[in-house]
Amino acid sequence: MENGAKTNKTVLSFVQSSGTPTLGNYFGAFKNWHDMALENDCIFGVADLHAITVRNTPADLRRRSLEMYAWLLALGLEPEKNIIFLQSHVQEHALLAWILNCYTQFGEASRMTQFKEKSQKHADNVNVGLFTYPILMAADILLYNADMVPVGDDQKQHLEIARDIAERFNGIYGDVFKLPAPYIGKKGAKILSLQEPEKKMSKSDLNVKSFISLTDNTDVVVKKIKSAVTDSEARVYYGEGKNGINNLMNIYSCCTGKDFAEIEAEFAGKGYGDFKAAVAEAVVAELEPLRNEYEHILSDKAYIEKCAKEGAEKAQYIARKTVRKVMKKVGFYQV
Ligand code: TYM
Repeated sequence: MENGAKTNKTVLSFVQSSGTPTLGNYFGAFKNWHDMALENDCIFGVADLHAITVRNTPADLRRRSLEMYAWLLALGLEPEKNIIFLQSHVQEHALLAWILNCYTQFGEASRMTQFKEKSQKHADNVNVGLFTYPILMAADILLYNADMVPVGDDQKQHLEIARDIAERFNGIYGDVFKLPAPYIGKKGAKILSLQEPEKKMSKSDLNVKSFISLTDNTDVVVKKIKSAVTDSEARVYYGEGKNGINNLMNIYSCCTGKDFAEIEAEFAGKGYGDFKAAVAEAVVAELEPLRNEYEHILSDKAYIEKCAKEGAEKAQYIARKTVRKVMKKVGFYQV
């Protein structure tokens, strides 16, 4: 693809405003968003409606949504060229989600592993929104006729249900929705917790040592990586039973572009202390410029709000058209 030339594909993805983004969000999603935005028309959203499936204080939700929007700008996603907005600013999301609820089977929604995990984690608040969450996500995608949806591994099942719902709807009413394809990067699609490297790294984990936030400064990154759980073998290679080291190798590979064989060669004869120091240095080098840019953008709230408002207007124009078409197909009375 020539520099600046665009495909005619629509790329779309969202991130929940449920906390400060982590290294997992960055490598699993953001980096791909940035690269794909160079060649495609893109729509990126802050999923603040999804964020209320767990309890927030109103002030926290507002702050996190603004901050998440600032992160998207800090990544270099250009608001003039892409559509970047807050989900709650375009009410068609909730409307289409309701309609799609009626085209989703209880059984298929019950199979979502993330619902099962989250309902265990938030056992005191297993609300219906947590259950219908993937249907709202399907609405996010189908409103904009997205071709490709770059996500981390954990969202794959949600993309499958979005396709199933779209196929079912099209089967009844004709070709209304485009079927979206997931885009899951080869590297970085599953960054694991530093403390429990069987689980994904998550911004809502209660143990702050388990994740690296994009706001963590050098000292914090060094400490968190130093205390990452490994094994007693003290030999750096990618292998079975070495989840902690595999995860750090994956992170190092994402930062440096080196493959596992190169990393093994680089650390042959060296211990985990040296390896962890190198991983920390690579992470800091990757995140520091981004964090500086984020802080710079966050200091200009008026600019963020202007971008968000314009983004929502552009998004709503498309979303309205889709909803109008869907409502007509379903048989809502039009005047
Ligand atoms: P969220 O906010 O949990 O995560 C945003 C993106 O980051 C990816 N990700 C990871 N990738 C690799 N390793 C990890 N440890 C890791 N943690 C998170 C996620 O896969 C995701 O791509 N439901 C979505 C938000 C959403 C959405 C959508 C996504 C709402 N509507 C429409 C795509 C299309 C979510 O909670 O992502």
